[in-house]
Amino acid sequence: ASPSQTYRTSYHFQPPKNWMNDPNGPTVYKGLYHLFYQYNPLGPDWGNIVWAHSTSKDLINWNPHKAAIFPSQKGDVNGCWSGSTTMLRGENPAILYTGIDPKNQQVQNLAVPRNLSDPYLIEWVKSPYNPLMTPTPENKINSSSFRDPTTAWLGPDGRWRVIVGNKLNRRGKALLYRSKDFVRWTKAQHPLYSIQGTGMWECPDFYPVSSSPIGLDTSTIGEGVKHVLKVSLDDTKHDQYAIGTYAHSKDVFVPNAGAAEKFSGLRYDYGKFYASKTFYDSLKKRRILWGWINESLSREDYIAQGWSGVQAIPRLIWLDKSGKQLVQWPISEIETLRQKKVGYPRTQLKSGSTVEVQGIKAAQADVDVSFQVASQLEQVDAFDPSWTDPQLLCSQKGASVRGGTGPFGLKVLASKDLQEYTAVFFRIFKAQNKYVVLMCSDQSRSSLNEKPDKTTYGAFLDVDPLHEELSLRSLIDHSIVESFGGKGKACITSRVYPTKALGNEARLYVFNYGKANVAISSMNAWTMKNASINRKN
Ligand code: FRU
Repeated sequence: ASPSQTYRTSYHFQPPKNWMNDPNGPTVYKGLYHLFYQYNPLGPDWGNIVWAHSTSKDLINWNPHKAAIFPSQKGDVNGCWSGSTTMLRGENPAILYTGIDPKNQQVQNLAVPRNLSDPYLIEWVKSPYNPLMTPTPENKINSSSFRDPTTAWLGPDGRWRVIVGNKLNRRGKALLYRSKDFVRWTKAQHPLYSIQGTGMWECPDFYPVSSSPIGLDTSTIGEGVKHVLKVSLDDTKHDQYAIGTYAHSKDVFVPNAGAAEKFSGLRYDYGKFYASKTFYDSLKKRRILWGWINESLSREDYIAQGWSGVQAIPRLIWLDKSGKQLVQWPISEIETLRQKKVGYPRTQLKSGSTVEVQGIKAAQADVDVSFQVASQLEQVDAFDPSWTDPQLLCSQKGASVRGGTGPFGLKVLASKDLQEYTAVFFRIFKAQNKYVVLMCSDQSRSSLNEKPDKTTYGAFLDVDPLHEELSLRSLIDHSIVESFGGKGKACITSRVYPTKALGNEARLYVFNYGKANVAISSMNAWTMKNASINRKN
């Protein structure tokens, strides 16, 4: 294959070529799913940004359309940046997005479909009143830190609300605007929420959740409903969130006790996953999360390959029973790509063993494994309470550092000689009154090529290994590995660039490098079919 194709994915969303970043304005209209995205029509690097557009019947196979929103007005001559879709009353989609004006100021604009009877929503018309929200000296909004409007929600008073990402000095803010007609917007006195010292909040998202995978429309308020505020922190490039209450009479977000400071470290994904956005899928009554996964290649190398960026597999997202965190799971439609299943009966995975999972195409696979360690916890290593950073812990205790119980898990995109592999695994520790489960994705051996970034990622997983199984699901797709631990309680996505473990040469192994044996209670693996993604007809 030509170098431009080596690391292309087979079932992840990407354009045929060029640069892609944030998912924009996802929605469902007349039975069709829409995804727009930040795209450079002229090349593989960021720039010349328009809203490219694709539609799908199943969120898996996508058809490309012409760009939906591109520079054409004063309010966006220098770029059409991120934004969201809102369904106005009576199935009436409206897009709010950030435009870059002739003075390179960030302003907020509105676009609506030209023809509501077209389910593909090919043509978008910009409001003659654009820009609708502007930075001015009076409102103290910094014109280079004012962007990415959310999906709006409708209050009981009949007014729409939307938030826009902002910072003032080092204080990150979710600025609140209100409107009766979606055209004339007034900035509220107080932001919905803000935190000192966090820097710019890009791509905010604000939505209701309940502890059921049945999703809630964005305007839902009431008993048993919690709210999530997510921001994309420009400083760290992490999508962090807090769970709390939306005090709608005051129009402020009140995070749960303890959740306020720096979003208490909760992340959608502890690997690569940024500028994400949810939408309410009214067709299947669920909330779905899209997120952008950038390259781990040097700029020079992604320019040479002619493309950059993929979107993560859309994830169902809801509130965990504990109320303390969210849970995510790949949408069930992805299972339609599963081909040949390889299943393993319950077996022991002896200390020191590495077993190949045969019979699948390991470069594009879905694997789901559950471990039982309850009877294997005598030798567990002690947990040092000063270990507060799971990523650091995973990089110090990688896949080749032997422990009491763990590391055990998967080696994916592995070469036959195991010179190359990405290890996704667990390690268990004993703290004062409980066990601590660490989930890691170790990229340090992922490629013989020295150049890509191979940072190791890690997360603590809120699962009790004494009473629960430890499950791990990984979606493997040539240069991307999306892993879901504890049935979606911790997610880690990584980009890797094997030189040997390519195509039919890639292997999948299950391994246990800990001193204790562990039991595999179930394991299934599938080859994944190619999805049809943005192919030109
Ligand atoms: C996030 C972001 C947004 C901005 C867009 C520009 O990745 O920087 O804040 O609107 O990308 O492409």
